[in-house]
Amino acid sequence: APSDPDLVERARAAKARLGDRVFVLGHHYQRDEVIQFADVTGDSFKLARDAAARPEAEYIVFCGVHFMAESADILTSDAQSVVLPDLAAGCSMADMATGEQVAEAWDVLTEAGVAADTVPVTYMNSSADIKAFTGRHGGTVCTSSNARRALEWAFGQRPEGAGKVLFLPDQHLGRNTAVRDLGMSLDDCVVYNPHRPNGGLTADQLRRARMILWRGHCSVHGRFSLDSVEEVRARIPGVQVLVHPECKHEVVAAADHVGSTEHIIRMLDAAPAGSKWAVGTELNLVRRLADRYAPEGKEIVFLDRTVCFCSTMNRIDLPHLVWALESLADGRVVNRIEVDPETEHFAKVALERMLALP
Ligand code: 13P
Ligand code: SF4
Repeated sequence: APSDPDLVERARAAKARLGDRVFVLGHHYQRDEVIQFADVTGDSFKLARDAAARPEAEYIVFCGVHFMAESADILTSDAQSVVLPDLAAGCSMADMATGEQVAEAWDVLTEAGVAADTVPVTYMNSSADIKAFTGRHGGTVCTSSNARRALEWAFGQRPEGAGKVLFLPDQHLGRNTAVRDLGMSLDDCVVYNPHRPNGGLTADQLRRARMILWRGHCSVHGRFSLDSVEEVRARIPGVQVLVHPECKHEVVAAADHVGSTEHIIRMLDAAPAGSKWAVGTELNLVRRLADRYAPEGKEIVFLDRTVCFCSTMNRIDLPHLVWALESLADGRVVNRIEVDPETEHFAKVALERMLALP
C-alpha cells in the first residue's frame, strides 16, 4: 500500500529539522515506507560498520531489530543516542539464547572437559549479553556474510584438529557454514537443546563433536521447505533458487545459490535479463527486488507463498518512525537503547574481533 502522504510529509519535515544531527539506518527487511527515509541501508554486517561512520550525529535512529540497535550502541560513542522506533521490534531467534542458559551450557561443557577446547562464535542475531559471553571466552561475533571466515578464525585458535566451536544461536547458519564452506560432515555437528538436562547430549557426544550448535532458528527462514524448492522448480522451468543461510540445511542443499542479504542483492543485480529467480529470504526485501528488477526483464518470485513477513521487523512502521523523529526534533530522546558498560565492554571485544576478520 502507498504510504500515507501526511505521514511522509511529517517524516520529511522532522528529518529536515534535525539535519546532520540524525542518522537513519535501515535493514533490508524493513518496510518500503520506512526504508525511503534511511540514510543508509544494509545487511546486519554493513549496518554495524556504518553505525560508527557518523560520529558527529547525535542520534542514530535504527530501523531494524533490537539486537542491531544494541550493536550500534556498543560501536558508537556514549555521546550518541541510538533510538529504536518501536521497542517491541525484537527477534525471536535472539530470544532463543539467554545469558543464563548459555552460562549453564558452558558449565555442561566444562563438566564434560571440552570447554578449554571450545571457542564460542555468536551470530550477530543475539543479545548483547550473549556477545559479552562470547567476548569473555575468547570468541567472535559473525554475520551471515562472514560466518565462514569467523569459523576458520575460531578453529585457528586451537591446535589443528583439537578445536571445537559453540555456535550461537542459529543452528542452521552454523551447520550450513560448517558443512558447505568448511567441508565438515553432518556427524561433526551436535545440537545443544537448552531445554533439556545437559543440553540433551552425553559427555561423549560433546567430546566427539566439532560444532556444538545451539538449538535456535529464525522463525521466517526456518519455514522454507524442501517442498517449496521442488514446487517452484516444477512451476517455473529454468528458475534459479537463491536462499539465505538461515534456511534449513536440506533447503540450502537443494538451492542453486546461498548468501546473506547483501549477497542476494548483488547476485540479482548482476543477473541477466530473462533470468528467473525464486528467493528464500524476508518478504519485504524480495518484493522490493522483484519490483526493482521487473523492468529489466528479470523475474523474481518469493520461494514459498505460505511464509510471511518477519513480524518484528515490520513493527517499525511509518507512524513509529514519525513519532521517533518528531520527538527527537522536539528535544525528547525516546526509546533509547543503552547497553550497560560491563556488558558493552566484553560485547565490543567480540564485535571488534569480527570487524578485524580478514
Ligand atoms: P543479514 O542481514 O546478515 O543477512 O541477516 C538476516 C537477518 O535475519 C537479520 O535479522
Ligand atoms: Fe530475527 Fe529472523 Fe526476523 Fe531476522 S528475519 S529479525 S533472524 S526473526
